[in-house]
Amino acid sequence: TTAQSPLHFITLRDLDAGEIRRLVQTALKFKHQCKDQGKKFHPQQPLLGQTLAILFSKRSTRTRVATETSMTYLGGQGLFLSGQDIQLGVNESLRDTSQVVSSMCSGIMARVGEHREIEELARYSSVPVVNALSDLFHPTQILADLMTMHEFIVAEQNSAATSARLAHQVPLEDTLPGLKVAWVGDANNIVYEMMMAFPKVGINLAVATPSKYPVPAWLQDTAQSFTKQHQTEITYTSSPTEAISGSNVIVTDTWVSMGQEAEKQQRLQDFAGFQVTQDLIQRGGAHPNWKFMHCLPRKPEEVDDAVFYSPQSVVFQEAENRKWTIMAVLNAVMVDKKY
Ligand code: CP
Ligand code: NVA
Repeated sequence: TTAQSPLHFITLRDLDAGEIRRLVQTALKFKHQCKDQGKKFHPQQPLLGQTLAILFSKRSTRTRVATETSMTYLGGQGLFLSGQDIQLGVNESLRDTSQVVSSMCSGIMARVGEHREIEELARYSSVPVVNALSDLFHPTQILADLMTMHEFIVAEQNSAATSARLAHQVPLEDTLPGLKVAWVGDANNIVYEMMMAFPKVGINLAVATPSKYPVPAWLQDTAQSFTKQHQTEITYTSSPTEAISGSNVIVTDTWVSMGQEAEKQQRLQDFAGFQVTQDLIQRGGAHPNWKFMHCLPRKPEEVDDAVFYSPQSVVFQEAENRKWTIMAVLNAVMVDKKY
């Protein structure tokens, strides 16, 4: 008999609406258990004796800390291995690395350059592989974004400060459908991942990127199959104000992703007019209760301090939610072995 093939987490493209919602609901439950009920560790310690290899070829603050602390909560051990330390596609093929590491560990969390690298790790791994960011997709980030939007809508509906106690009891179907998110920035892994998930949970997305940086047609096509199926909408424009018009949430990210450092000067020129400011948001005519999100790390060129540190900014809540959502993903692929 052949061993059951491991459950990977590569992009939300591969998950349906119910699976995405369940991961976020699990994350909300973990947050409630830790923050309201004061649990320091998971009562069942479901990953006791298990190890997660954390293979990162790029820098990380949030994803790494979220992953290592989640492993501790679940009773397991995270093993951080940077590209400086191990033979990650440098002296050894990814295929061989994957086969060796998966023979000793219960899971692999990998941050890679090209997306085909994560696919290659998954293909040859005997244990679950989680994408901790590739140049194409960043699925754990977008789960945290969904969780954050759910939380502030719950808070708004109850005119209360955000509370995990409240938020974990409300279904996502009651909060996310009908929201409009405006993306103002680069065509990159963050917005691509949003396109793979938002349409399925009822969120409409308006994507503004400079005309020199369009979203590739094949990604638009993939996203369109989801918008059709779920009666949602994604629009593309090069006008930030057009995208912002009527939006509940404004999101941006760095204009220079990891690996694009050589293009920095050119990009700073090409993104003129895309800095998110109070003035841009007013001119665009966002919803009166607009919120601002950013996956971080943040540079002032894409969003000024007045927006980034404003009361409407939920960026630090969003960053914290990386922990609860990554915990939910690890729990799904390593403990439940289903979404
Ligand atoms: N948002 C995010 O992935 O942050 P890190 O690069 O710090 O992990
Ligand atoms: N687009 C950014 C996201 C960092 C979390 C990058 O890929 O560098």
